[in-house]
Order: sequence, then C-alpha cells, then structure tokens
Amino acid sequence: MAAHGESQIDASMIQKMLEGARAATARAYVPYSSFPVGAAILVEDGTIVTGVNVENASYGLTVCGERVAIFNAAAQGYREVRAVAVSASKSPGATPCGACRQVLNEFKPTSGEMTVILDGGPDAEPAVTTLGTLLPHAFGPRDLA
Ligand code: THU
Repeated sequence: MAAHGESQIDASMIQKMLEGARAATARAYVPYSSFPVGAAILVEDGTIVTGVNVENASYGLTVCGERVAIFNAAAQGYREVRAVAVSASKSPGATPCGACRQVLNEFKPTSGEMTVILDGGPDAEPAVTTLGTLLPHAFGPRDLA
C-alpha cells in the first residue's frame, strides 16, 4: 500500500477523516456481531459525511458502514467520493467488503483516484491505498454509457 505521503489527500485531512470514522463507530447498531464499523467519506466540496453499520434481526439485511456513508452522501446530493476512511476497532486495517467496493466505484472522482484510508488502530499508522488497487477492472457507469 502507498505510504502516507503519496496520497492525493494531505496528512491533516487523513487525520480528520480517521477521527470522523472512529467517532462514528460509537453510533454503529451492532447487536448481533458486536463489530462496529465507522466510515467517513470526503465528497466533492470538502464535506465529510459519515456512516456506520446498521444490523437487522434478519441478518442478511445488514448494511455496512461504508455503504451507509455513501448513501447518506448521495441522499444529500453529492456524487463524487474523493476519499473514504474506514475504522473497525476489532480488526485494525480492515478493508471495505466487496459489495462496498463496488458501491464506492459508482462515485469515483471524475479525475484522479479514490483514496482509501484504513485505520490501523491507535498505535499504528493508517494504511493508505486506492479503490483501483482494491477493485481492479471494475464494472462501472462508463460501461453502460
Ligand atoms: N461490515 C462493515 O460495516 N463493513 C465492511 O466492509 C465489512 C463488514 C459490518 C457488517 C456487519 O455489521 C459486521 O461488520 C460484521 O460483518
């Protein structure tokens, strides 16, 4: 994964996004897994929108924190995700699941990569990578154009 300094997102923004993702985990609804996930996404105007995983008694209806954050942003009218930070305190460095990668791909920036920031926990540096690394050869909106 890319070192901190190679990201298109500067270090202070990475820190701000990580803090947003971590703070969000307190609001995760996780009565079944006890595995809170918080996500913070940076949209086109510099706003940070957060999300948490929301579980359901019908387990398969659970929605991941990343998708809740993206749908929250989309519902506010945003269409471009410049970066996403993910925090899962029980699994430092956890990456977005495959379904969330595909949903993130829908809102890739018009220019440049989407940065993905993975919380390594309180005593480790975050890992910084890109959606293109996590989801190569993705099917996306341009395939339907
Ligand atoms: N989860 C996420 O929120 N994001 C992921 O990328 C992987 C998994 C959630 C779903 C479920 O609530 C819990 O973590 C355990 O799978």
